[in-house]
Amino acid sequence: MIGKICGTGSYVPVEYMDNHELSRTVETSDEWIRERTGIVKRHIAKEDTTVSMAVKAAKQALTDSELCEEEIDLLIVSTISSNVILPCTACEVQKEIHAINATCFDLNAACTGFLFAYNTAQAYIAAGMCKNVLLIGAECLSTLIDWKDRTTCILFGDGAGAVVLRAEKGNLYRTVSCSDGRKGTALTCDTGDYIKMNGQEVFKFAVRQVPEAIAGVLKENNLKEEDIAHFILHQANRRIVEAVARRMNVELDKFPMNLQEYGNTSSASIPLLLDEMNRQGKLKRGQKLILAGFGAGLSWGASVLEW
Ligand code: UT7
Repeated sequence: MIGKICGTGSYVPVEYMDNHELSRTVETSDEWIRERTGIVKRHIAKEDTTVSMAVKAAKQALTDSELCEEEIDLLIVSTISSNVILPCTACEVQKEIHAINATCFDLNAACTGFLFAYNTAQAYIAAGMCKNVLLIGAECLSTLIDWKDRTTCILFGDGAGAVVLRAEKGNLYRTVSCSDGRKGTALTCDTGDYIKMNGQEVFKFAVRQVPEAIAGVLKENNLKEEDIAHFILHQANRRIVEAVARRMNVELDKFPMNLQEYGNTSSASIPLLLDEMNRQGKLKRGQKLILAGFGAGLSWGASVLEW
C-alpha cells in the first residue's frame, strides 16, 4: 500500500512584514534581501499560534479530502515552534478538529521535518498500521527570531500547510534521507534563545547535498529528471533553488517557488507550496513530483510523490 494525497490545505496569518518595513528596524534594504534571498515579505502571527494555524490548514485539507475527521487514524505535526512543550501540537490539533481515532505525535527535524513526516506516514501505511493520515507542517518562527539580528530576521515567516494521505494499492518509492549531527552548530536555537545560523555554511551545504539527494532518489527509483513534473524544494532562498536547478541541469520552471511571499517557513514550506499548486490546478493525477528538504540537524533528503 502507498499513501496518496487526497486533500491539501494551508493558512498564513493575514499580517505581514515587507522588506521596507524591516529596513526601518535593522540595517538592511529591500534590494539586499531580494537579491540575496528572493524574499519580498513574510507573514507574521499576531493573534495566531502554531496550533491555530495548524488547525486552519488541517480543516481545509480535510474538506478537500472529503474524509471526515473520525477517519483519520494518524496525525503528525512537523514543527520546531510548538506553543508549549506538552501536550504536543498534534494532540492539540486533534482536540480542536475532533480526530478522535488518530494517534498523534510531533516530529522535529526543522526544515526537513515535513519530508521526514511524509516518509513516516508512508512507512505506517506500508506496514498496515494506518489508512488515513493527516500530515501538517506548522511554524510560528517569529517567536524564535531575534528581530535585531539582520542575518536571520529577514529570512523567516509563519504559516502552516497540511495534506491528507489515503492508503491505496501501489508500490512504495525508495527515499533518500540523511542526517549529520556533527554539523549541527551551523543552525541552532538553544532553549529560551533565538535562532542562530552560519548562513554561508548552510547555503553551501544545501547547494551540495540537495542535488546529490535528488540524483540519488531518481537513481533508486529508476527515474530520470524528465519523468518529474515538479521539484518541490524547501523554500529557503531563491539562490539555493536556482543553484540546485543549475547543478542538475534542469530548467528552473520545474522548480516552483513561493518564498517571495512567505519567506522561509521551515516545515510549513513544502505543504504550503503543494496546497498553492493544487488550488491553482497545476498538479495532475499520475504526475511524479520530487520533494526535497534540508536544514538544521543538519538533515536533508528527497522523496518521490506520485500525485
Ligand atoms: O532552512 C535552511 C535555513 N537557512 C538558509 O536557508 C540560509 C542559507 N544561507 C543564506 O541564505 C545566505 O547565506 C544569507 C541570505 C543568510 C546571507 O547571504 P550571503 O550572500 O551568504 O551573505 P553574507 O553572510 O556573506 O554577508 C555578506 C555581507 C556581510 O557584510 P560584509 O562582511 O561583506 O561587510 C554581512 O554583514 O552582507 C552583510 N549582511 C547584510 N547586509 C544587509 C548580512 N545580512 C544582511 C542584511 N542586510 N540583512
